[in-house]
Amino acid sequence: MQSFQELSKQFNHFFDTRHFPQNPQSLYEPCEYFLGMGGKRIRPVMCLMGNELFDAIIPDAFEVATAIELFHNFTLIHDDLMDKAPLRRGMETVHTKYGDSTAILSGDVMLIQAYEHLHNVKSPQLKRILHLFNKTAREVCEGQQLDMDFEKQDGVALDEYIHMIGLKTSVLIAASLKMGAILGGAGEGNAEHLYNFGLNLGLAFQIQDDYLDAFGDPAKVGKQVGGDIVANKKTFLMIKALETCSTTQREELDQLLQSNGEGKVEKVLEIFRNCGVDEWAKSLQQKYVQQAFDDIENIAVVSKRKQPMTELAEYLVKREY
Ligand code: IPE
Ligand code: IPE
Ligand code: MG
Ligand code: MG
Ligand code: MG
Repeated sequence: MQSFQELSKQFNHFFDTRHFPQNPQSLYEPCEYFLGMGGKRIRPVMCLMGNELFDAIIPDAFEVATAIELFHNFTLIHDDLMDKAPLRRGMETVHTKYGDSTAILSGDVMLIQAYEHLHNVKSPQLKRILHLFNKTAREVCEGQQLDMDFEKQDGVALDEYIHMIGLKTSVLIAASLKMGAILGGAGEGNAEHLYNFGLNLGLAFQIQDDYLDAFGDPAKVGKQVGGDIVANKKTFLMIKALETCSTTQREELDQLLQSNGEGKVEKVLEIFRNCGVDEWAKSLQQKYVQQAFDDIENIAVVSKRKQPMTELAEYLVKREY
């Protein structure tokens, strides 16, 4: 069994090459620019790990992993445009550097390139994989739309938030693992347990993402810290603050949500700190990590095969970027 680091190395070796033609440069250079910024690449590695949990990694897994990473990068280019984010991975976002229309098209062409890698898959399981890939992609769109809708909605409930992040973030993590498992010859039951592990881990992962957006070290996060506050995102932190704060704080928060004035981020962060929402976030995250560990227990393979998966789960919630 290989560790996350070992599998990352293998994946990067396969992936770090040019993915697009030279011309038109105005379309493809932004794509190469964005992919060149790297990222953690957890999803493609999860696909390889899902495969190796059941059997030796087959070449098809690298094609599916590549499709997944390209798809993920496509969602980020469009997400940054929608979130008006200036920074990603410590660099300028595509729409900031090249303009909105180019960000739309470069994202589109990256999605199409993802499908080209699925087309390279030789396994008779391709139909199943394609179906799961498409279902996941549709769900990510649903989640992203809900995320935008919630910016304008007051009184977003915790279960609505969990539903939304399940769609925008968890399903891709879960599907990455399951597509790997399918290629590794897993039975339906085991593949489903692994999928559920991914769903729960994905929730914990997005809670960490929300946490870092507010409390992370800007030098490490590589994104604009406080961006969610500026955009009135209904993150767990915001929902919990609105629920637990005093009447005075509640009035102040309501006002801050109506405005975009000087010092909004600092003022909201102070309320977050006073309400202790960071602690709440950590405990909710722990709940989902625990559920994820329970799911993994249900997978019928010897426990030493599961070790890289458990290590990855622990790393993902402790991460600082
Ligand atoms: C960012 O994903 C988008 C979310 C779902 C939170 P990652 O944190 O995996 O981004 P990179 O690829 O490592 O930059
Ligand atoms: C993004 O969620 C989820 C997808 C890209 C589908 P966020 O908007 O929180 O991700 P970051 O923080 O920009 O990476
Ligand atoms: Mg974003
Ligand atoms: Mg977003
Ligand atoms: Mg975020």
